[in-house]
Amino acid sequence: MEEELISIKNTALSFILEAEDLKNLEEIKLQFLGKSGKLTLLIKEITKVPPEKRKEVGMLANEVKDAIEDAIKLRQENLKHKTKTVLRQKIDVTNPGILPPLGHEHLVTQAIEEISGIFEKIGFTRVTYPEVEWDWFAFEALNFPQGHPARDDWETFFIKGEKDPQKGAMLLTPHTSSGQIREMQKALITENKGEEVSIRMLNVAKCYRRQSDISHTPMFHQFETLVIDKNISISHLKGVLDYFAKSYFGQNRKTRIRPYHFQFTEPSFEVDVTCGVCNGKGCKLCKEGWLEMGGAGMVHPNVLKMSGIDPEKYRGFASGWGVERVLMMREGLEIDDLRLLYSNNLDFLEQF
Ligand code: PHE
Repeated sequence: MEEELISIKNTALSFILEAEDLKNLEEIKLQFLGKSGKLTLLIKEITKVPPEKRKEVGMLANEVKDAIEDAIKLRQENLKHKTKTVLRQKIDVTNPGILPPLGHEHLVTQAIEEISGIFEKIGFTRVTYPEVEWDWFAFEALNFPQGHPARDDWETFFIKGEKDPQKGAMLLTPHTSSGQIREMQKALITENKGEEVSIRMLNVAKCYRRQSDISHTPMFHQFETLVIDKNISISHLKGVLDYFAKSYFGQNRKTRIRPYHFQFTEPSFEVDVTCGVCNGKGCKLCKEGWLEMGGAGMVHPNVLKMSGIDPEKYRGFASGWGVERVLMMREGLEIDDLRLLYSNNLDFLEQF
């Protein structure tokens, strides 16, 4: 508050000094001292200052007001006589400077960093792949044949332009699973040099879907794991996701997997985590004690084949969860409209 007052004083004084004529000076007066002038509005805020500081701030506000009023009077005289001299001394150059406001990482970026850290601890490597991608990587190689109705669930943005004869249309990645195919192709390049395939991938990326309402934003983030090796089983999947849930939500949380369907995993699951409010007993928020977190499953042999990996030799698991979703769940944030996350509203963002 003090800084703002001093800043208003300095700005007002320099404006007054530069005022070109009496009319201009009158405008400046209104801008600071008018009914909705800067200083008038700030003075109204004094009620919010803690009582023990209120007197001091009030006195400063009065000083600032007097200084501005004096300067205006003086400048009026000066303008009548067209000189600028005396007023210059009125700006107190010894006042401390104003610190520029400090920013910080967006809360979603903070969550991404934290999630990455958790997976990196157990040997996952974070990767990035194109977010403007070919249909082949986002659907076809993930075992969605052309025209398959399940594609509709992904509400995809397609990009106008010519289709590639092999890779199809271009699109904005509707999920991070396209990274699975890219990762397996990359691993094959090293396998062909004589190394075995051994993947522990974490792909965190922007995803885009044709959806915008209070619980959906057209752009959101997913984090995808892919593990490929010999003898990988469901217990590895369960272990990793359990480790993640405990690290991110708290050691007392439990996970469970439920049968589900995805084209690119077999078997497929949805993963639930015990509710943090009732600890799994059941409450208003979760109803039955569990909160749904996201998809997972054992990589479908067709997907391995299409990426050039021998399903007889290798097996793997994958999972894909929403960053915004896990973040909301953990913070217990009840945001009325999820679009607020990306609306650049400082009052909201500054809280994190
Ligand atoms: N890609 C799926 C989705 O967007 C999530 C998923 C990823 C499911 C990996 C299984 C395995 O819903």
